[in-house]
Amino acid sequence: MRPELNPFTPGSGLRPPALEGRGKQIDDFDLLIARSKRRQYDRGMMLSGLRGVGKTVLLNRLAEHAENQGWMVAQMEARATDVGVTVSRRRLIGELRRGVQRYSRRHDLQKKLQPVLEFVERLHLTLAGPGGVTVTAGRGGQPAMPTMDWEYEFETLVEDIGAILAKHGSALGVFIDELQDIDDATLESLLAVQHTASQRGWPFFLVGAPPQPAVTARRVPILCGTSVRVLHDRRARTGRRE
Ligand SMILES: Nc1ncnc2c1ncn2[C@@H]1O[C@H](COP(=O)(O)OP(=O)(O)O)[C@@H](O)[C@H]1O
Ligand SMILES: [Mg+2]
Repeated sequence: MRPELNPFTPGSGLRPPALEGRGKQIDDFDLLIARSKRRQYDRGMMLSGLRGVGKTVLLNRLAEHAENQGWMVAQMEARATDVGVTVSRRRLIGELRRGVQRYSRRHDLQKKLQPVLEFVERLHLTLAGPGGVTVTAGRGGQPAMPTMDWEYEFETLVEDIGAILAKHGSALGVFIDELQDIDDATLESLLAVQHTASQRGWPFFLVGAPPQPAVTARRVPILCGTSVRVLHDRRARTGRRE
């Protein structure tokens, strides 16, 4: 076979020519989006499975689809090297800032989202401060407090963004690949905010891709507030050999 005709694209996360055997997961996610447009908010989603099964590729596809369907999207890959709570939070907020900017440009909502953008930027700066946690970002430019309550700030941000997005039948999707590599405290706060969001009807969805053993090890927090889809080898379903 001529090399350029070979459809196989080895390498992690590389987009394959066709997404085989993922119809069910894409349909489930489509339903989540369709329901969010009617302001019916489900739980987030975990795509779990062994290494190489296709989590990254599917997660990227879902994030792209969500954005094309009018969601605000923040996407990142957690890294085991993100030692320290501050680094992973700063990266998360950085991606959120880009998501807010992209969304407001795309939907011509710069003015409406300006206060949210300022909040995100203050939070980002706060996390970058000496020691990372010396002052609070504060909603609407409130005075600084001696320490920052990360979960409270993040929850407030999700609430503020959600209030605007709900009016437009939209939602905020945070897509995190290799979710197990986020530090425990940040992961727990993300899951707690997902939980609060589904209880209070805020349009916020955490979509993560942890490998299978990580889901097992943290079964309780991961299963709380999200639904887990365990991905299987697509060749088993399609009966194809690659
Ligand atoms: N649904 C699919 N159909 C065809 N090839 C796929 C599919 N999903 C993933 N692949 C290919 O399999 C390889 C591994 O996928 P990846 O998403 O990196 O797996 P994981 O994140 O679970 O380790 C990549 O080369 C990718 O192009
Ligand atoms: Mg991967």
